[in-house]
Amino acid sequence: MLEVINLDKCFSSGGMMKKKYIKVVDRISFQIGRGETFGLVGESGCGKTTAGKSTLRLIEPTSGKIVFDGIDVTKLKTKEMRKLRPRMQMIFQDPDASLDPRMKTERSIAEPLRLRGGLSKREIEERVMELIETVGLNPEHAHRYPYQMSGGQNQRVVLARALASNPDFIVADEPTSGLDVSVQAQILKLMNELKRDLNLTTMFITHDLEVVKHMSDRMAVMYRGKILEMGETENIFNCARHPYAQLLIEPQPSEDLGVQDAESENRNGDRPGCVFYPRCPFAEKNCMEKEPEMIKMNRDHQVLCHLV
Ligand SMILES: Nc1ncnc2c1ncn2[C@@H]1O[C@H](COP(=O)(O)OP(=O)(O)OP(=O)(O)O)[C@@H](O)[C@H]1O
Ligand SMILES: [Mg+2]
Repeated sequence: MLEVINLDKCFSSGGMMKKKYIKVVDRISFQIGRGETFGLVGESGCGKTTAGKSTLRLIEPTSGKIVFDGIDVTKLKTKEMRKLRPRMQMIFQDPDASLDPRMKTERSIAEPLRLRGGLSKREIEERVMELIETVGLNPEHAHRYPYQMSGGQNQRVVLARALASNPDFIVADEPTSGLDVSVQAQILKLMNELKRDLNLTTMFITHDLEVVKHMSDRMAVMYRGKILEMGETENIFNCARHPYAQLLIEPQPSEDLGVQDAESENRNGDRPGCVFYPRCPFAEKNCMEKEPEMIKMNRDHQVLCHLV
């Protein structure tokens, strides 16, 4: 369904005089099969959201190729991209920011249907009520504003709105962060049901290992803009091969994973070696000098490390 090849995203930073470019997503490649949920995990700041937005061309990738259902998305002009848009939706990290506070539920969900055109007012109303039911809300929620709903209910509205255009592919960026554990479980259950019933293909972004374990068929571990390990979720949880993936799955008490800052000095930048070298407990001379290549452990398990 989706193939991403050597995707790069750089942002410029610094003042007018001394422009600096930081690479936030660094030559990542992955594939997602139809109906599959692909988890993307990593610490805060490692580039997950940027990778998700670039994949949908909500921000323009610096380089790389994205093929969606056989279409080279990177080559599409604005108009062609607009046509494809309904098929690829993003659920943003912050539901409060993605709902207009002045719009009642029904209008929020109807908006994408109206924009697409071709449906009568009556048909839109019917579809909205259908979607409200699909995501487990009550008809009375249709007439409420976001502030009159709970966080979990608003997240259901966001989901309904994303589903309104009958997408094939959804990037869900931390769709349950900020919700309490029981509500989070309900939303995740709903997303799993939708995946089954609608055969949705999903890229699921999270920093929560338990969530990715529960939700994804395959997953990738990201660190400072790079994918360090990728494969079937079960495989990675059972036998992670990259030292960073191992640390993430079984954290050591002495290790402070902290927050990654794109501009911090030991981001890969101009340094030739492995991105994880400065923190790797097993690093050797080679790791400092030479960038590792992805190594295929088996058909669907890849690791970016000199030492495996
Ligand atoms: N528009 C931008 N301009 C400059 N730097 C940016 C921009 N957007 C993101 N960044 C930087 O890129 C890095 C990755 O950001 P991103 O939002 O992709 O991280 P993330 O993995 O989604 O983190 P979190 O888990 O906290 O959501 C961060 O260091 C961030 O400061
Ligand atoms: Mg993010």
